[in-house]
This record gives sequence, structure tokens and C-alpha cells, in this order.
Amino acid sequence: MYERLTLAPPDPVFGLLEKFRSDPRTNKVNLTIGVYQDEKGQTPTLNCVRQAEYQLAEQGDSKSYLPIDGYPEFNRLLARLVLGDAHPVLNDRRFFSAQTPGGTAALRIAAELIAGSGPNKKILYGAPTWANHQQIFAAVGLETLTWPHLDDSGRNISFDQACSAITRANPGDAILLHAVCHNPTGFDYNASQWQELLRLVTKRGLIPVFDFAYQGFDRSIEADAQVIRDFCAGDHEAMICSSFSKNFGLYAERTGGLTIVARSQEHVPAVASQIKSVIRTMYSTPPAHGGRIVATVLSNPELTRLWRADVDDMRNRIREMRHSLSEALMLRTGSDEFAFIDRQTGMFSFCGLSVQQSQQLRNDYGVYIVENGRVNIAGLNPSNLDQVADAIAAVSATVRA
Ligand code: LMR
Repeated sequence: MYERLTLAPPDPVFGLLEKFRSDPRTNKVNLTIGVYQDEKGQTPTLNCVRQAEYQLAEQGDSKSYLPIDGYPEFNRLLARLVLGDAHPVLNDRRFFSAQTPGGTAALRIAAELIAGSGPNKKILYGAPTWANHQQIFAAVGLETLTWPHLDDSGRNISFDQACSAITRANPGDAILLHAVCHNPTGFDYNASQWQELLRLVTKRGLIPVFDFAYQGFDRSIEADAQVIRDFCAGDHEAMICSSFSKNFGLYAERTGGLTIVARSQEHVPAVASQIKSVIRTMYSTPPAHGGRIVATVLSNPELTRLWRADVDDMRNRIREMRHSLSEALMLRTGSDEFAFIDRQTGMFSFCGLSVQQSQQLRNDYGVYIVENGRVNIAGLNPSNLDQVADAIAAVSATVRA
């Protein structure tokens, strides 16, 4: 049968990473994959994670299977991290959380639940979105409806289009929303837009799927969860897909979680059983190590304090680099055409470069960004900033000329 298989296209993010690694140039810069790098260009293991690992090693944890839905203590703490300690959903026991191998698996399980909830189910999202979203939804046979997340200038949210897309959806369909730090654009809704959007989502009877991969990377761990907490305080259903890749730096440990909020406690056992059945056929049970690390940190006040400080440091460094890039481009172009970079949030900047310009950036200057124009701001540091700003200014001038 293998002779009948054709080559799948390379992944837009990991494919470029492979190209970067095989590039012999010594001055190359990797601004592709969403991985945090410190000012020395290293992806650090957080101090709180190391300490948790020492504790776990000393305890001599068993390597036996976890339950299908993961480590119970992790799931308890996950729900609190997402919803806050005293949220009514927790008191009413209207939720179910499952530890998953990264945010990707949480999204895939959410997609399976939606697809399994009835025929011809659709999911709406603003495009562009994270390249893997579309592939995950297609893999479970969900039809997708999109609206443009940005207006024609590429520098503002296209809010009207989001609202009108919602009115075109069918009750019972799902809508994917980036809770914070939109990937790839870096443009988030403001507080009043969120309020209006979620009012329309409820009115139309849609179920929101919050992709929550960057908790703590915009304002703070708590503030970044507020949109979700406010929405779930109403009598609504929601799915929240968390990732601990970025905010715990646990990329390689594949640590994430799915939190389902139900309208009534009575719905929870069926939802939980469906989730477990999806997991059992997909990967059986999640890997243990990352979940144990997160649970160890979040159940220890001192380690939690260290963790929050680390998240603050990562966020502040990214902000500084964002600001510096915007300033450096202003200096080089003599205009404020890149000032919008400073208004964006999170790890990424959709910097307005075309596919052709992104390729030129890579081929002529050794600066790797995702071809849709996404720059990983967290890959910038004082040593590569000038090179990157020179390159972006040069390729945008070529097109202007
Ligand atoms: C990214 O968007 O670069 C990250 O979330 C890594 C990935 O899996 O694509």
C-alpha cells in the first residue's frame, strides 16, 4: 500500500524549523516556532520546574499508568488555574478537567466531542489562526467557517466581520476563540469587544472553544483568564484548551489540559465518559511527568510564587523586545508604519510581510519567520535585534520601491 501514498506537505512551523537547523549560515536567526528564548537565545528550564523535578525524584514516583483522564491532583489544580479558586462553576461542580498531552491534544479531544455531538457540525474561527487548528478540525471531519480576523490594513481587528459570522452560524455549532495572545497575529479583542462577542455567541447558541495556550503572557495569570471566568459565570457551556508548554516552559513534556464547563452538574458524567472514550482510543493515557511537575508547583506556595515571577519575567522580556523592534524599525524606515508591533500582545507579531518577503528574509538575510509573516518576538534578543530590524526594513523597502 505504501506506493499509493503521496508526500504530505511540510508543517508550516516545524517544517521551517528543520530548514533552519540545516542552514549552515552562522548568523542565522530563528523566529519561527513559538518557543520562548532568553536574552542569550536559550530556552531555559524554569527554576520552579527544576525544583519540582528534584522533589519528584526524591519521592521516587511510580511509572505505572495514570488514569485515562490524567493525574487527579493536576486536574483539580488545572480547573482552579483556569477558573479561579472560588468560581461558581467549581462550587456547582459543573465542570470536568482532563490532563492531555499538550494543548494540541486538548483541542483534538474538543473537536472530537463537537463532531460527535451531531451531524454536520461546524466550527467558526477568525483567519488566520494557528496553522494546526485547521488540520485538527479537518481530521475529525468538522466543517469550518471563517471570517477575517484582521481588516484590510492587517493592523486592526475586523470586529464587524466576527459579529456577522456569528449570526450566520447554526445553533449548536462551535466557535474557536483565542482567549489571549492571538496566534499568529498578536491582535486581541479589547474588553468591550469580548463582552459583545460573547453576548452574540450566547444569543446564537454557539459553544465557545477557548484556545488558552498563553495564560500569563499578556497581563498576568489571573487577568488573562478573566474573559473565560466572566463568560463561565453565566449559565453557559464552554471548552477550554490549556497548554503548559509556554507558561511552564514544558514544551517537550507535552503537558496541557481540557476543561469542560457544563450548564448543569447532571451533564458532567456523560461528558466525562465521552472524553475518556476519545482519549482511550487516541493515546490511552497521558504521559505523567509534565503533569506531576505542574501539580507539584501549583500545590506548593513557594514554588507557585517562583513560577509566577518567572512568567512575569518572560512576559516583560517579550514586551521589551516588542518595543525595541518597533523603535528600531521606526529608526530605519523613518516612519511609524511598524508602530503597531508595540500594540500587539503575546509571543507573536504578524508584521505585515508577504510570503515572498518572508522568503526573502530567510534567503537573503538568514532571518527565519513563518511564511505567513509571523515573527516570534520571544526569539529576539539584544544581539540579534539590529540584524532582524535591518532585514525587515530592507525587504519591506524592496516592495515599496
Ligand atoms: C507555534 O505556534 O509555533 C507553537 O504553538 C508550536 C506549534 O506547535 O506550532
